[in-house]
Amino acid sequence: MTVEAQSSAVYSPPERLTNPEGREKPWVSSMAQYEELYKESLEKPAEFWTRMATETLTWIKPFSQVTQGSLKAGNMAWFPDGQLNVSYNCVDRWAAQDPSRVAFVYEADEPGQASQVTYGELLDKVCGVANVLHSFGLRKGDTVAIYMPMIPEAAVAMLACARLGLVHTVVFAGFSSSSLAERVIDARARVVITADEGLRGSRPIATKKIVDEALKSCPEVEKVLVYRRTGNESVAFNASRDVWWHEAVAAQRPYCPPVPVSAEDPLFLLYTSGSTGKPKGVVHTSGGYLLGAALTLKYVFDIHDNDVFCCTADIGWITGHSYVVYGPLALGSTSVIFESVPTYPDASRYWQLVQDHKITQFYTAPTAIRALRRHGDEYVKRCDLSSLRVIGSVGEPINPDAWTWYNDVVGGGRCAVVDTYWQTETGSHVISPLPGATPSKPGSATFPFFGIELAILDPTTGAELEGNDISGVLAIKRPWPSMARTIAGDHKRFLDTYLNPYPGYYFAGDGASRDADGYYWIRGRVDDVINVSGHRMSTAEVESALIGHHAVAESAVVGAPDDLTGQAICAFVTLKDGFDANDELKTELVKEVRTRIGPIATPKILILVDELPKTRSGKIIRRILRKVVAGEADQLGDLSTLSDPSILDMLVRVVTAAL
Ligand code: WT7
Repeated sequence: MTVEAQSSAVYSPPERLTNPEGREKPWVSSMAQYEELYKESLEKPAEFWTRMATETLTWIKPFSQVTQGSLKAGNMAWFPDGQLNVSYNCVDRWAAQDPSRVAFVYEADEPGQASQVTYGELLDKVCGVANVLHSFGLRKGDTVAIYMPMIPEAAVAMLACARLGLVHTVVFAGFSSSSLAERVIDARARVVITADEGLRGSRPIATKKIVDEALKSCPEVEKVLVYRRTGNESVAFNASRDVWWHEAVAAQRPYCPPVPVSAEDPLFLLYTSGSTGKPKGVVHTSGGYLLGAALTLKYVFDIHDNDVFCCTADIGWITGHSYVVYGPLALGSTSVIFESVPTYPDASRYWQLVQDHKITQFYTAPTAIRALRRHGDEYVKRCDLSSLRVIGSVGEPINPDAWTWYNDVVGGGRCAVVDTYWQTETGSHVISPLPGATPSKPGSATFPFFGIELAILDPTTGAELEGNDISGVLAIKRPWPSMARTIAGDHKRFLDTYLNPYPGYYFAGDGASRDADGYYWIRGRVDDVINVSGHRMSTAEVESALIGHHAVAESAVVGAPDDLTGQAICAFVTLKDGFDANDELKTELVKEVRTRIGPIATPKILILVDELPKTRSGKIIRRILRKVVAGEADQLGDLSTLSDPSILDMLVRVVTAAL
C-alpha cells in the first residue's frame, strides 16, 4: 500500500525559535539533538528516565527502580518504590520559591473580568479544600467526583484531592445528569464537588441542578461541596448533604500537610468512550503521569520561565488535565483558564485573550480553528499576537488548509505549529513536532516523543510493517511513564482493548501511515468511535440512548464527514410497529440522546428507515452506512454478506434526501 501524498510543503522551525534574540534557546534546537535524546530514551531508558524524573519532580522517597512489567503481561509500573505528592510538586515548591508567581490567569466568561491566582494563594486554596475533604472522612484511595465549570476552583478541587492521595474523576460539565450518575456510580465516589451554576457566553448553566438530578440515583454520595460561582439564590440547597465551599473552607485551618503516595497510586480516573456502550474509567498514576504531562509540555511547547501558556480545553477532558492543570503547574508555569466560548462576545475572543495576557503558547482544537477561520481573518488581525511562539493543535487530524491558516494568520508565519497526537489513555503527547527542531508537514503529527517506540502493524496479520511508505494501524512497542495502567474495576477490558489485540503492543485504535520521509500521519479511528470536534463518542453509547426511547426498534450510528466538526453523528433508526415516521418524532429522538448523554452527543442527522443493512445472521453492517453517508455508495466493497441487497437503493435515496 503506498501512502497518498497529502501536502508536499515542509515548514522549517521559524526564525523566532531558531534565532531567539535575547530569549532562551529552545530546549531542543535541532533534529540532531532530538534524535540524540530520542535514541538515548530508547537505548538507555533507565538513565534517561532517571534523569528526567529527578530533574522534573521532587520525590519524598527516591525510586530505586525505573520501570517493571511489560505490555505483554499488562502489569507496567514506573518508579514503583518512589513516593511523592502531586499537589506538593504542582504548588508548594513554587510557592516556597516565589509566592507571588502567577499560577493561573482566570479569564472569566464576561470580558474584562480577568483575575490571577498566585502560587501562594493557590497553596492556601488547595490546603483549605483538602482539609474540608479530610473533615468529610475521605482518606487516601477514596474517589471524589468533580463536576464544575472552567474556573480556577476546578483545578483547586483536583489538587486538593491529590494532596490527600484521593482519586478524582472529573466529569465534563456538559454531560447530562444520567451520564454523571453513571460515572459517579462506576467510580464509587462518595463526595461530589460542584458549583451553583456555570456561565458560558453569558448564559447560566444549571450545574448544581444537574448534580441534584444525578444524585437521585447515587445513594452512596454523602456530601456535595458547592462553590458559589453566580450566587443565584434560587439554586436548591439540601442542608443534610450539601456544604458551601466558602463556609467549609473558612472553618478549616489554612495549611494541610501533603500525603505521600506511591508513584503507582492512582491520581485520577477519567471516563472515555470506547467501542461498547459503557464508558470506561481510564486510570492514571501519580508519578509516571505527572512526569509525562510536565515533560511533554516543556519540550513540545518549549516552556521557559515567564511564559504564559493557554490551553483552551475543558478540564473535563484529558487535555485539560494534562495541559491546563498538571503539566503547567508541575513546571511552575502560568496557565490560562478560560471559562467562556471562542465566539463570545465575538469571534476574536481567543485572540483578545492572547493580546491581553501576552500568551506565549496557545493550544486548541482543529474544530475551533476551522470555525474561527470561517469568520474571516479580520477577527485575528485586529489583535496583537506578537507574544506567541508556539501554537498547538489536538484532538483530531488537522486538515492542511486549517493548518496553513493557523500558521499564516494566527501564527503570522512567526510561530511553530505543533500538531500533537495523543489520547486519554496515553496521558500525554506521543507524536508531535518539537518547535525548535522539527520541520513540519501540514497534517502530519511528525515524529514520536522521547521514549515512544512506534510501530505500524498490518491490521489483519498483526505483523509489523518495516520501512517507510506504509499504512496500517498505529501501535506502541514499549510502555511509557504516562500510559494508563488499567480501567477502573475492569482490568480485563483494559487488556482486551489495548494490549491483547496485538500481543506485545499497545494498540491505539487509529489508522496511520509512515510516509517516504518517515513522518507519521494519523488516519482516524479504526473502531466504532466517532470523533466529533475532538471529542470521542462511542457509536454504541448513542445507539443505546436511542433504543431507550419507547418508539425505537433498532438503531445504527455512524460518523459522517463534516467540514466543521471533523465528523458528525449520523443515526439511522427503525421504529417499532405502530409508530409513524414524522418530524416531531425525529426531534424527540434527538432530544432523547441529548438528555441521556449530553449536548455533545446530539445527532446532526437522524434518518428514519424501514430497514437497516444486515448480514444473514442479523448483524448490522455499519460499514455500508458509513460509505453511504460519506457519498461513497459506489465503493461499498464486498456485499456478499448483505442479506437483502435491494435495501441499498433505498438507503442512498433517504440519505441523499437527508443531507
Ligand atoms: C483520539 C483520542 C488527547 C487528545 C484529545 C482527544 C484523535 C487526537 C490527534 C491528532 C489526529 C488525533 C485520535 C485519538 N486524535 N489527537 N493530533 N491527529 N488524530 O482525546 O478523546 O482520548 O481521543 O483523538 O483518533 O485516538 P481522546
